[in-house]
Amino acid sequence: MKKDVKAIYLNPNVDVELRVADLLSQMTIDEKIAQIGSVYLKTDLFEKGKLSYSKMKKFLKNGIGHISRIIGNPGIEPKTAAQIANKIQEFLVNETRLKIPAIIHEECLAGIMGLRFTAFPQAIGLSSSWNPDLINKIAGVIRVQMRSIGAHQGLSPVVDVLRDPRWGRTEETYGEDPYLTSCLGLAYVRGLQGDNLKNGVIATLKHFGGHSFSEGGRNLAPVNVGLRTFREEFLFPFEAIVKEGKVKSVMNSYCEVDGIPAAVSKELLTDLLREEWGFDGIVVSDYSSVIMLNNFHHVAKDEKSAGCLALKAGIDIELPNTHCFNKIKEALEEGAISERIIDLAVSRVLKIKFLLGLFENPYVDVKGVSKVCDPNENRVLAREAAQQSIILLKNDGVLPLKKNIKTLAVIGPNADSTRNLFGDYHYTAHLARYNVEDSVRVVSILNGIKNKVSSKTKVYFAKGCELDSYDKNGFKEAIDIARKADAIILAIGERSGLFGYGISGEGCDRTNLNLPGVQEELLKEIIAVGKPVIVVLINGRPITSKFMVENADAILEAWYPGEEGGNAIADVIFGDYNPGGKLTVTFPLEIGQIPIHYRRKPSSYRNYIGVETKPAFPFGHGLSYAKFEYSNLEIKPKQASPDGKIEISFVVKNEGKIKGDEVVQLYISDEVGSVTRPVKELKGFKRITLKPKEKKKIIFNLDCEELAFYDKNMELIIEEGSFKVEIGSSSEDIRLKGTFYVTGTRKISKRSVFFTTSI
Ligand code: BGC
Repeated sequence: MKKDVKAIYLNPNVDVELRVADLLSQMTIDEKIAQIGSVYLKTDLFEKGKLSYSKMKKFLKNGIGHISRIIGNPGIEPKTAAQIANKIQEFLVNETRLKIPAIIHEECLAGIMGLRFTAFPQAIGLSSSWNPDLINKIAGVIRVQMRSIGAHQGLSPVVDVLRDPRWGRTEETYGEDPYLTSCLGLAYVRGLQGDNLKNGVIATLKHFGGHSFSEGGRNLAPVNVGLRTFREEFLFPFEAIVKEGKVKSVMNSYCEVDGIPAAVSKELLTDLLREEWGFDGIVVSDYSSVIMLNNFHHVAKDEKSAGCLALKAGIDIELPNTHCFNKIKEALEEGAISERIIDLAVSRVLKIKFLLGLFENPYVDVKGVSKVCDPNENRVLAREAAQQSIILLKNDGVLPLKKNIKTLAVIGPNADSTRNLFGDYHYTAHLARYNVEDSVRVVSILNGIKNKVSSKTKVYFAKGCELDSYDKNGFKEAIDIARKADAIILAIGERSGLFGYGISGEGCDRTNLNLPGVQEELLKEIIAVGKPVIVVLINGRPITSKFMVENADAILEAWYPGEEGGNAIADVIFGDYNPGGKLTVTFPLEIGQIPIHYRRKPSSYRNYIGVETKPAFPFGHGLSYAKFEYSNLEIKPKQASPDGKIEISFVVKNEGKIKGDEVVQLYISDEVGSVTRPVKELKGFKRITLKPKEKKKIIFNLDCEELAFYDKNMELIIEEGSFKVEIGSSSEDIRLKGTFYVTGTRKISKRSVFFTTSI
């Protein structure tokens, strides 16, 4: 250790706040600015495909806040990623004055976005499981994997509440409901951060806020939303998870909300997030969103001013490399920013580094990596997750098929593909522009089916067409095998990728929700053959096809199901797994119905000429091979004070012949409000498993604080009045109804209850 550095901050027994203060007091301005910046591994630190010492000397001499992506680059093996992480930390510890290790961040929405790591179903699929425990478990696996390669922060989860499925990022969300998004996001955050950050990974809530409500579903376009709706729908998951999950990072949205880009919004990033909600972590910029204040939004005249505006608003770290924050020193010298603002951001970053135990434990054991990549138990979990995420949208009785069926035709552009089973933040799809190969062993739908059927079953395959071309030359072969078959499995939909490399995914917005290319025509030709047709949708957003809804014998929504997708789909088709997933996004019948979502206002549904404003499939919908009956609704008490609790209980029984899962859903609506209220709001749910004839009593404990909304003066209140209780198997398949009465009105100064508990 060099003489001029005092070692108090290096002592793990000293209180974190004191360590931060001690370290901060010894830092030069260059060292401070380094901590609020980042470098992008591939472009900044690599030379000829290898980590370069001279580049480290150049970019890391004063230390660094974050390293952007190591494993998340094409072709980097996990062991190499861990070695690179160690070398960078070694450099920082041994060759910089203050020895401050870096935070390494990666993407991990549905598994680590990197070679060899388990690829779980895409987020929209995970949400369709309606199973927070499952998501928590998956995030726990990701935590261990991330730490094994020396990564400390995951840029996940996405808790944007979906409104317009034309938006390519629909698949990254947990769907259209703020409550469900909050529950699932919280489960993810808890799983990723773990009980102790010393071996946990920081989660990042994104994109704060309103990213999913951009006009026309166009990525990055302006968001125009009233403050009340903004808070109650789009910001609700952020508030709930900041307060309940103690999440340690938030990422700003690229978008402007009513003229103010999130990256310059002090109201959002500081006043609301920190002061009102008590957030104590770090705000990271979405990639290049600081520079975009200058070259995209044109609210900053140059990079220096963009940096100052963002830092003052509350962005603590510029990602993925430092452009604008490098000019902060100049701004300081000119008096355009105060050192206090810089110190605030630096101390937040340092605090997180101490909490992560980085100073004591900057390195990883390279030998341990391969063991946690994709061992069998992870593949089992990936299969279970894919099974739970599959939704049976329609079934005329054709499913489940018998394994000894004589002849099967498997048709469609998604049937024999492994690549297409991935979402946009899975390695293979995310890095498609580099022509990367599958990162793990992947089971296609065709192989999943072949693995499942009896040895005597004949399985024919024909692609029929490409996903998005207009060539129909493959139709004939497809029709020929369809004629020979006893049943047809048609795997169609979309393919995920980024910015032009997908039909869905980030930067892949659409003007319609049709089956792309000539897939609808293929479907028509196949249906015309007259055999039972089971459609398997592999896609990132709802598909509108009236023809499919009316004419297919069965429809399975499998989203992008990940590495075990083919097996899970076959499990469902042949009845080894009874599907229990439910839609977390409304399926419109026609594109022009958008926006269409269940949590609408009373005035929002009017029929169009010739088209009702009814969806093809509503939020919460999903069938089973079993049959569930609901009874015995009890609401206690029938009258509660505004600080009271309501117990809502009922019984669900499996009247079917096989074991199955049901997602029971609790919807509440305010019968009369001083401002308009949604026609119903999800306030509780539970996925349960029941054997034939088995019944279970479900109890939801609703706290009246959950009924709060923003009144005319934007005050949060619980209002006296009558509330409707609806228990459903979907938002439209309501089985039990009741009411309760709240006997008074109460103002809430600080919201602290977000979730209904259930037994
Ligand atoms: C996305 C973020 C993501 C970042 C880095 C951006 O384009 O909006 O969600 O974390 O890229 O991958």
